[in-house]
Amino acid sequence: MLNLAILISGRGSNMEYILKSIKRKRIPINPAVIISNKPNAKGLKIAEKLGINTVIIESKGFKGSRLDYDKKIIATLKQHGVTPKNGLVCLAGFMKIISPQFIRKYKNRIMNIHPALLPAFTGLDVQKQAVEYGVKFSGCTVHFVDEGVDTGPIIIQSAVRIKNRDTSETLAKRILKEEHKIYPEAVRLFAKKKIRISGRKTIIS
Ligand code: GRF
Repeated sequence: MLNLAILISGRGSNMEYILKSIKRKRIPINPAVIISNKPNAKGLKIAEKLGINTVIIESKGFKGSRLDYDKKIIATLKQHGVTPKNGLVCLAGFMKIISPQFIRKYKNRIMNIHPALLPAFTGLDVQKQAVEYGVKFSGCTVHFVDEGVDTGPIIIQSAVRIKNRDTSETLAKRILKEEHKIYPEAVRLFAKKKIRISGRKTIIS
């Protein structure tokens, strides 16, 4: 079976929904390890409660390059069987940019969730960007990670209508509900080998 690693930095709600889907036997994948770059990430407690291995690789004060840091992540992935042949890595609120070397090694095996309809609103605070811009729809996107920022092949998107009275907080809440649906679904599609990549597109069967 495939081995899954989820990388987090904080709350871990997307991680939780993925793990719960796996526990309910909806996704045929082994949840091998949760890695956090922050020792106090709330998601770590959730993962422990669910009985999943957790590893902290603290990034604050880390002496070394981004690549040195990622080498530690890669070593941890390998220790838990999350290899470039047999693994999937999900970034779920992981607030660190990963190195091109890591991305190349795990080509088309790293996914991310972004709380906007890409390619609109990349980067940070994107719910605020959407409200301030005045778009009528935003949403969320699960995509493979490539060497750009939020540019990799899109796997699933879900749209959310923006209401007149929305603030970035109310919008973020409604988008998060959709994230919790589409991220487990993207992992399921991957585990069931239903995602094919053609150029910068994914074809879902
Ligand atoms: C989510 O909004 C996700 O789209 C973004 O970071 C947030 C993480 O939330 N990348 P959580 O830690 O999964 O609750």
